[in-house]
Amino acid sequence: MINPFSIIDRRLGLKRHYRRIFERPLPEGVTYFYCLGGIAFFFLIVLTFTGVVLSFYYVPSASEAYHTIRFIDGKLPGGASMPGGWLMRALHVWAASGMVAAVMAHMLRVYITGSYKPPRELNWVVGATLFVLTMAFGFSGYLLPWDQKAYWATTVGTAMPKTIPVIGNFIMELLRGGPDVTGITLLRFYVMHVYILPLVSIFLLWAHFHMIRRQGISGGL
Ligand code: HEM
Repeated sequence: MINPFSIIDRRLGLKRHYRRIFERPLPEGVTYFYCLGGIAFFFLIVLTFTGVVLSFYYVPSASEAYHTIRFIDGKLPGGASMPGGWLMRALHVWAASGMVAAVMAHMLRVYITGSYKPPRELNWVVGATLFVLTMAFGFSGYLLPWDQKAYWATTVGTAMPKTIPVIGNFIMELLRGGPDVTGITLLRFYVMHVYILPLVSIFLLWAHFHMIRRQGISGGL
């Protein structure tokens, strides 16, 4: 009998790629805790998808942001809403928390199994930078609903660098785009959240995965 899969595979050579990616030998002692990085990556994919969908409706301006979020959530008087918007927003918020938890747990696993030791020390540094970026995603995203909680959290958060001697005030004003949290801050945080942080993350994730492939996964304890 003709096997349709082998006909397709003879032309596309998919099995070869499947084997190269999925059928790799693993060292002794690898457990389910080694899935935590993959779980963090799964949350990142959910965040990217829901974030792109939300960006079709969200407007990052001081006069519009709050109302567009109410529109996305279906909470505007009169009932106008983005179809499935509440679900996209809920998934985005939950996946953000999930990602922070997964990244922290992944980092702990790498530490406990000593997987930061040579030859993986550079990957630890790349990972630590990804951790900072994950936090920056959370911090910049928190302002976007432009409600009281967002405004005051950002006012407190951006005031923290002010305590650094000499350059503290400069850093605070760089983050805020002036002495106070205003529409400029909102736009700045939006640009960070949807352009700068994703671009840097894509590059670092590529480096992270490239090194994992080159060095192989470390063994268990
Ligand atoms: C965006 C966040 C991150 C993602 C998506 C991610 C993804 C992954 C994946 C899929 C692996 C393969 C093994 C596993 O899943 O445990 C891995 C390995 C590794 N990660 Fe991450 N990671 C992230 C953040 C971090 C952080 C914060 C650190 C440490 C500071 C780190 C350090 C490492 C190291 C050293 C390895 C190699 C571990 C080994 O060979 O056992 N990663 N990462």
